[in-house]
Amino acid sequence: MLIIEGKQVMMKDAPVITIDGPAGSGKGTVAHNVAATLGWHLLDSGALYRLVAFTALKQGIALDDEAALVAVGRELDVIFTGNKQGGTGIILDGQNVTHDIRTEECGSAASQVAAFSSVRTALLDRQRAFLQMPGLVADGRDMGTVVFPDAFVKVYLTASAQIRAERRKKQLKEQGIDVSLSCLVRDIESRDARDCGRKSAPLKPAADAVIIDTDQLSVDEVVNNVLSLVQERRSVL
Ligand code: C5P
Repeated sequence: MLIIEGKQVMMKDAPVITIDGPAGSGKGTVAHNVAATLGWHLLDSGALYRLVAFTALKQGIALDDEAALVAVGRELDVIFTGNKQGGTGIILDGQNVTHDIRTEECGSAASQVAAFSSVRTALLDRQRAFLQMPGLVADGRDMGTVVFPDAFVKVYLTASAQIRAERRKKQLKEQGIDVSLSCLVRDIESRDARDCGRKSAPLKPAADAVIIDTDQLSVDEVVNNVLSLVQERRSVL
């Protein structure tokens, strides 16, 4: 039994922390570290949209063939390995695709398939099934607004397109890939426009989300901010 604002509240489900934000805001790394620190499960919802896009690209399905994309989303045969405590291995149809789905091409295709509300609906139950004790850290675009509207902590990370592109460039460089900064800024801006402008579950902070601008913050500082919010909420609950 919990007390919130003087009212007694039953906590039936495992608690959820949602971490939403645009591409490159650092939410993936932050969610991973928060889940690992708390020993909670992790949902990387973007991976599901990437898996639909990856399958479509591989099978030659057009990115505007809504019915075929919905079928792909419903039938995804995927296993997230080591999901508890921040694990991130992704096995699709028995193949390890953990790295294959991280390309810029796949990210951009994911944002196209994610614009279809029917594709989003096809992935909804799969996302909610990640909610298990002792708790879930869910990272994405609509975790706090649509998928887990009752989350006990909601965070929305922002950062300028320039800073996000610089972070992405550094990440790619570490993988031996050289991409021009201006290309990355353009890609991030067009992904933002598509994610924010779509009719279904557009990218926006939940009304009750705490917004953290990460331009001047390190990953550890953001993680500590989120953990402090969790502490504060726990002491209230
Ligand atoms: O987070 P990530 O870059 O892996 O997401 C890829 C794309 O999937 C995003 O650009 C976005 O269009 C879509 N997405 C979404 N809703 C989510 C997570 C990702 O629409 N919850």
